[in-house]
Amino acid sequence: MQKLVIEGGNRLSGELNIQGAKNSALPLLAACILADGETMLHNCPRLSDVYAACRILGSLGCECKADVNDITVKALSPCGCCVPDELMREMRSSIVFLGAVLGRVGECSLSFPGGCELGPRPIDMHLAALRKMGAEITERYGLLHCVCKSGLRGADINLGFPSVGATENVMLAAVRARGVTRILNAAREPEITDLAQFLKCCGARITGEGSGAVTVEGVEKLHGCEYSVMPDRIAAATMMSAAAVTGGELELIGARASDLGAVIPVFEEMGCRIYTYSDRLYISRRGQLSAVSLIRTMPYPGFPTDAQAPVMAALATACGTSMIVENIFENRYRHVDELARMGASIKAEGKVAVIDGVPRLYGAKVRAMDLRGGAALAVAALGAEGITEISDIKYIDRGYESLESQLRALGAKARRESF
Ligand code: UD1
Repeated sequence: MQKLVIEGGNRLSGELNIQGAKNSALPLLAACILADGETMLHNCPRLSDVYAACRILGSLGCECKADVNDITVKALSPCGCCVPDELMREMRSSIVFLGAVLGRVGECSLSFPGGCELGPRPIDMHLAALRKMGAEITERYGLLHCVCKSGLRGADINLGFPSVGATENVMLAAVRARGVTRILNAAREPEITDLAQFLKCCGARITGEGSGAVTVEGVEKLHGCEYSVMPDRIAAATMMSAAAVTGGELELIGARASDLGAVIPVFEEMGCRIYTYSDRLYISRRGQLSAVSLIRTMPYPGFPTDAQAPVMAALATACGTSMIVENIFENRYRHVDELARMGASIKAEGKVAVIDGVPRLYGAKVRAMDLRGGAALAVAALGAEGITEISDIKYIDRGYESLESQLRALGAKARRESF
């Protein structure tokens, strides 16, 4: 078991290369199944979830080699169609393999991803869309079996909610389907655009990505390509929170202002100075932060639910009262009790959290309850007086490439300890 030990009080300063986006790398790795030949993905973050995706590819008979941040995938024919249960459990977002495997093989068996630390994570929209494209799906004892022997066909899919995962699964299923698929009320997240760009590099025909209406014209074959995963906008928002809470000054290389459109004004309201350039973002803050009136998490281009926890940690010591409304996931305030152990004054009920800024937080023994909640504890620890020990850092490792090394390089006192 490992814990993260952070001694707060140091201003963060310097330059940091923002890692590749986890939420883009995972669907891109699944998409490699659809391409004949070799695909090379650059800028893949070195994360436990990414390695779990590589193991899923291996279990499906693909060759997968990782070399630092490059991953090469060779999808061999015929490709397997069963994702082992233990790998599904290891990474719940592995449901994105369903559309890709079905699109390639016409059949896929996997276990139901089930609930997760953010609350129940249903996949009803994924399944309804795939059924409309001709898949026969049976669900029994937590197992899903999907088959479409005569191949998938294009369809008009109207999503009840712009689900990121459902949009990705339909795109993956549609690229090699017969005919045209139109996804209405599609998710508009930058990771959807990244997936579309990647698939187009492989020969897919897609238009409308980044808008609420994506059209995919099925092609017979896709070929491998070389592609670089987009920078991680949530890692960037986490580091912005770390700069804000320590009164620091950071240059985040790779952070794209266009992906952070709803996040930047929140930090400006807190009193941070932000300058954006084509390939980087500069943020600085001296002195106490100001509270923000209201943050509502929304599908993109709204404020991202994944940035809610780290930003809340920064607001815990802001001057005044801030309010957050979490609209995407039911169970996304599990970091609140842990922040309270550090002296934060936050009340959360249902979707709403009210944060009364306190003059200072104090180091404590806390536990990461989920990925972004864990990152929030690290942010709080950086600004706190004394030493914070964060346990269950396996959650943090799912989304941040050696967070302690990144923070140390910027002047923080942070280390990983085994116990
Ligand atoms: C993805 C991201 C996650 C992010 C989330 C929202 C990945 C690997 N994960 O998760 O980090 O927080 O988008 O931006 O990219 N829903 C249903 N039925 C469905 C599908 C979704 O009810 O069939 C609900 C979910 O329970 C949730 C909401 O829709 O309340 C949003 O989920 P979705 O956009 O699908 O998120 P994920 O793709 O799981």
